[in-house]
Formats: sequence, C-alpha cells, structure tokens
Amino acid sequence: MKTLTIRRPDDWHVHFRDGEMLRAVASDTSADFARAIIMPNLVPPVVTTADAASYRERIVAAVPPGHHFTPLMTLYLTEGTDAGDVEAGFRSGLVTAVKLYPAGATTNSQSGVRDIDKVMPVLERMAEIGMTLCVHGEVTDPSIDIFDREAVFIERVLQPLRARLPELRIVMEHVTTKDGVDYVRSQDRNTAATLTTHHLIINRNAILAGGIRPHYYCLPVAKREEHRLALRGAATSGDARFFLGTDSAPHLDPLKECACGCAGIYSSVNTLSCLAHVFEEEGALDKLEAFTSLNGPTFYRLAPNEARVTLERHETPWDYPRKRATAEGDVTVFDPMFPLHWTVA
Ligand code: DOR
Ligand code: ZN
Repeated sequence: MKTLTIRRPDDWHVHFRDGEMLRAVASDTSADFARAIIMPNLVPPVVTTADAASYRERIVAAVPPGHHFTPLMTLYLTEGTDAGDVEAGFRSGLVTAVKLYPAGATTNSQSGVRDIDKVMPVLERMAEIGMTLCVHGEVTDPSIDIFDREAVFIERVLQPLRARLPELRIVMEHVTTKDGVDYVRSQDRNTAATLTTHHLIINRNAILAGGIRPHYYCLPVAKREEHRLALRGAATSGDARFFLGTDSAPHLDPLKECACGCAGIYSSVNTLSCLAHVFEEEGALDKLEAFTSLNGPTFYRLAPNEARVTLERHETPWDYPRKRATAEGDVTVFDPMFPLHWTVA
C-alpha cells in the first residue's frame, strides 16, 4: 500500500455554524485538522471580541474530547466595527483575523461592508499591528455577471485597497479564477489566497450540465474549466502564497434542494482524500504538505503542527458517508465524482 506522511493539516477557512449544526459538523474538521479559521457569518454575526470569545467556547464544547483542535477566531467586519476592540482581540490571542464580506455577496452577509471608506480606520489599524484581513472577493453590483464578480472585485476593490494600504496582510478567500491566481502571483508580499477542495475538482458544468445540481452550488460559483486548471496549477505548485481553505459550508438538504437554494458545499468529511487524489493526478503528492500544512501557518506567522498524519492509498475505494446527520436533518457531503482511494490512517 502506498502511504504519505505529512504534518497535520489546518483548514484556513471553514463554516462551523452554531447550535445543532455546530455539534454535528465540528468533529469532521477536528478529526483531520489541528486548527481552522472559523468564519464569523452566524446570525447574528460574530462582530466583537466578546462575541468571538463566547463562540469559541461553544466550539470547544462541540469538539470530541480525544481530538486536539484549536479554533482560530475571526471577526465579521461591519461599518460599525471598533478598531480598538479588534486590536484588543488580536493582542490577547483570541482573534486571528477579520473577515470582509461585501454586503449581500453571500450567505449572511447583510451586515457586511457597503462603503469601504467607512472601515478604513479598522483596516489601517490592522495594517499597523500585522493582522490579517480575509476577503470575500466578489462585487455585489447586480449589473455584473455572477461569473465575472471576482475579476471585477480585484480591479475595483482590491487593487485600490492594496495601493492605499501596502502593509495590510490580505488573504483572498476561495479564489475561483485565473484572474485571482494571477493577481496573487503578482504580489510579492502580504498577499495570499485560500483555495477550496471543490474548486480544484468541479467546474460550472457540475452545477448546470444535464440538470441542476444544488450540492455543487457555492459562492463564489465554480467557473469555466480554464479557471479550474489555473487553481490546480496554483495549489500543486508549492508556491507559499496558496493554501487550503475548504470553505466547507453545511446547509440542511431541504435548504439546498429547493427553488432558491443556499450556497455552500460540505466537504470536511472527505477533503483530505479528495486532495490526495488531485495531487496524485497532477504528479504533485510531494507538494500536498505545503498546501495543507505549511503555507498557511507561514502566512499567519504560526508554527506548523508538530503532529503528523499518514494518508494511505487503498485498492478498494473508501465508502465515505454520503450524508452528515444532524438533529435537524441531513447535510449532503461533497461528491467528487471519482472514487476515493486515499484515506487518513
Ligand atoms: O458557498 C458559500 N457558502 N460561500 C460563502 O461565501 C458562504 C458560505 C456559507 O456560509 O454558506
Ligand atoms: Zn466561506
């Protein structure tokens, strides 16, 4: 049997939700990951350091006793966010990053930012103290085609922001286009991107060809094949500016399988198996550890995990759970549409 031992991975972008959903999904992440950046788009959102402290306690309570897992908390940036509170949260070690959602861009983003000028004092303070801004990089202008919203965001929002604050540390979350990859590659410092597992595997045909498949719908929406190939190239290159953020985002099945379904793909269950497959296919298994376990900590100025995990390639594919049961109903697990031969030992 082929095996691969790597440092224990981290997930630099995940949605844990709250309540019953949190209790159902936290262990899928804590089983395979040592740390994860927890997205703050709850209802109501995690806006202050005090909100993050109580959410962190609920997360810790939801992680099974045997799992060694550290949640890295984020604050949801609003036009009312207080720079002093952000700095205090960061200095105390409780808060790792701040998340910028353009208002209306995605799930629970209504409290996000409409006018970037209004949050400049917070961003200036973050640049001063070396705190990371995680960015949902899509414009919300209804006249912009949904497949172009990332590229237009780079031009209209990111480039001007970068010019104003060269010292601000920015992670372009879940980059889905060649434009996003090229932008990050053009920046020699303070800029990185997370890439999801699913965007390395599906293009927009998965959602729309031969019937509409809501379990492949997420935001930013998957793009054309040429973009998927650019993302694969970035992930498997070893380039330290690119690292894993699964964007695993559970929604109950009835909320996805309906006339106006929610955006989000739940991949925490089988992400490492999918990634080993992708990296093997690209002849880049030697770059998997950089992507899952080294590049993220380097950007966030944290030590990589000391613990190791071993991935094993089996002849017989893994019959991974197709659903994650919660007290409120089922969540469908990401189906990569190929057999999963790799498992975490
Ligand atoms: O597909 C997505 N789901 N994209 C996001 O940006 C948010 C996430 C969610 O919270 O469901
Ligand atoms: Zn997300």
